This record gives sequence, C-alpha cells and structure tokens, in this order.
Amino acid sequence: MDHATLFSLALDASRASYSPYSSFRVGAALLCEDGSVFTGANVENRSFGLTVCAERSAVSAAVSAGKRSFVGIVVATPDADYPVSPCGACRQVLSEFLPPEAPVVFGSSAGALVATTMGELFPHDALHELKEAPSPKR
Ligand code: THU
Repeated sequence: MDHATLFSLALDASRASYSPYSSFRVGAALLCEDGSVFTGANVENRSFGLTVCAERSAVSAAVSAGKRSFVGIVVATPDADYPVSPCGACRQVLSEFLPPEAPVVFGSSAGALVATTMGELFPHDALHELKEAPSPKR
C-alpha cells in the first residue's frame, strides 16, 4: 500500500480524535506485514500527561487485534500546515515493533509528506543493535 493511501487513511482516522484541550487532531495508519492497516487517533485527557498520541493508539489497536509485525506508519494532521513528527514517547513505543528500516511518514493536509525511517527517528536502539535481540515471545 502506498504512502498516499495510508496518508488518507490516517487523515480519516484523525476525525475521531478526542482533542478538546489542544484542538489538534492527529491520525495514524499502521501498515502490518500481512497488508492489513490499523488506525488510531489522539485521545487527550484533562490530566494532560495522560494523553495518548495517534501513533500509540494505532499500535494498541493493532497489537490488541493480534498483530505484531509492522512495516511502516503514516501520521497525518488536518490542523497544521507543517508536517508533525512523532513525539519522543511514540518513537520509543514504535521502536518496540518497527524495524530500523521501516518507513515513518508524516504530513499535514497542507503540505508534502516527509518520509524518514524508524532508525533515523530513534537511532542507536539497543533492541535492534544487539545481534540476538530478544524477540517478543508471548
Ligand atoms: N499528537 C499526536 O497524536 N501525534 C503526534 O505525532 C504529535 C502530537 C497529539 C498529542 C496531543 O493530543 C496533540 O497532538 C497536541 O500535541
């Protein structure tokens, strides 16, 4: 599935965003190795630190449905005219499942997409640098 298609799925997903505090809607579309796609939206909380970003919502949806092998993620917002990249917490969580070479793409509804990789966003990740990286067993 191409980045443009995933981008439009991510933008659709942003419509479900619960973001009364920031008015900043974000959606994510996570592509699984088997070709299926799981989406997520940001879910804010009045205790601000408990906000869950769109990327982590998508990971939770996919893993809860039994998926663990992902090949890329696209993040979209209709509420900025610049591309919004995953926050540090999301980079950590995404790195648990996405290999360093996996594309991470982000954009707003206004501009061009930025395409980078998991390894660029989260370098020197011991999970992947270890030769015998532990593989999730359960
Ligand atoms: N947000 C995401 O969901 N993903 C990102 O990549 C950037 C930020 C959310 C968190 C918060 O609900 C709102 O956008 C403003 O930061």
